[in-house]
Amino acid sequence: MEHGEKRLDPFLYKEGELFCESVPLRAIAEAVGTPAYVYSASAIEARYREFDDALSAIPHLVCYSVKANGNLALLEALSALGSGFDIVSGGELFRVMRAGGNPAKVVFSGVGKTAEEIAEALRAGILMINVESAAELEVVERSARELGVRAPISLRVNPDVDPRTHPYIATGLRDSKFGLPIADARAGYRRASRSPNLEIVGVSCHIGSQLTTLDPFEDALKRILRLVADLEGEGIKLGYLDMGGGLGIRYKDEDPPPPARYAAALAALVKPARVTLVIEPGRAIVGNAGVMLTRVLYRKNSSGRDFIVVDGGMNDLVRPTLYGAYQEILTVRTPAPERVKVDVVGPVCESGDFLARERELPPLCEGDLLAVLGAGAYGFSMASNYNARRRPAEVMVQGESFRVVRQRETYLDLVRGESPLSSERRGNE
Ligand code: LLP
Repeated sequence: MEHGEKRLDPFLYKEGELFCESVPLRAIAEAVGTPAYVYSASAIEARYREFDDALSAIPHLVCYSVKANGNLALLEALSALGSGFDIVSGGELFRVMRAGGNPAKVVFSGVGKTAEEIAEALRAGILMINVESAAELEVVERSARELGVRAPISLRVNPDVDPRTHPYIATGLRDSKFGLPIADARAGYRRASRSPNLEIVGVSCHIGSQLTTLDPFEDALKRILRLVADLEGEGIKLGYLDMGGGLGIRYKDEDPPPPARYAAALAALVKPARVTLVIEPGRAIVGNAGVMLTRVLYRKNSSGRDFIVVDGGMNDLVRPTLYGAYQEILTVRTPAPERVKVDVVGPVCESGDFLARERELPPLCEGDLLAVLGAGAYGFSMASNYNARRRPAEVMVQGESFRVVRQRETYLDLVRGESPLSSERRGNE
């Protein structure tokens, strides 16, 4: 297999077809239909442990980033391993609590937290709110005062390093909307240290996503450590240093450092500062632990271009459309050796609805099953109901068994909460 290293571990060809762990993907497609997301529980667990083990020499907390994939079964499994969670909304807090996550291990980032979400987080007793502006600090303080509590905060700083990734997912540059410039953060900490309703817990950052080299992380960390030392000199002691997420994965031929190397590099720099290191990996834990299964509906040729029309579209998996992202596609049957160049497109009424363009794939027939790799992160979590399409089922594989961990949506799910104006129709509901 072309890129057949570690990444593909849970998804391997055996007995003439592609398996997830010990379950043939064909069996899952037959049981639950397509499109469907399929995750490997053991791959998720193994990746989480890689991060956690590599940090064992220093005080640390791995806060899995819920936005990558917020399925309750997945959150529950990570929570059982001791994971904390990075959330960006009240909805994600709700998911974490539903899954039995420990609020004392939750960090809350995001530039646009509402007063209501801030209050929910304070009531739940989370570890820290990663505050992203002076204005937000005021809202957090007011909310804490009203609730009669001290709000645990960190300031999210923007270390102004170039993560060298796709511009849509670079967040640590000076002109990005995220975090506070380091200089403003100093003033913010002084301000917070005078408030009876704010408890300074730490400092945080997140410089971008799908990073494939370590130096941007190291540069950012060095800048933040300087801030930590300066603040300590002023009598402001930070207990937690949150480096955010962002470690990349291999989709095609990228060569990101393994979690262990990333974690060791951070740990070496952080150790002398005697703070608890928090990291917020999302993609690196779940990205390559999941695929989207889809079935070929039609083959067609238009003006010399070969199209493979499949039943999964941009509403199910938007990354190729939104970022021009490359996600590898494998046939579920062991492929024939020859290759033809095709566009793999979905059923949505948009020219941008494609999963792959000019891709060399084995010749395909109607009814063939395909697995789109690297779909565990930002796959289902970015799915929508565009074109009134029901969002796909999600399946968790564990060894020889699999379980539907989210049912495919029904037509009634699509209209839930809507009310037609005519009472006649309402009566028909
Ligand atoms: N922490 C914060 C504050 C974040 O904003 C993010 C991602 C993460 C952690 C997790 O980053 P990760 O380890 O997954 O790289 N939809 C895009 C990715 C957007 C990432 C947004 N923030 C994609 O599909 O590539």
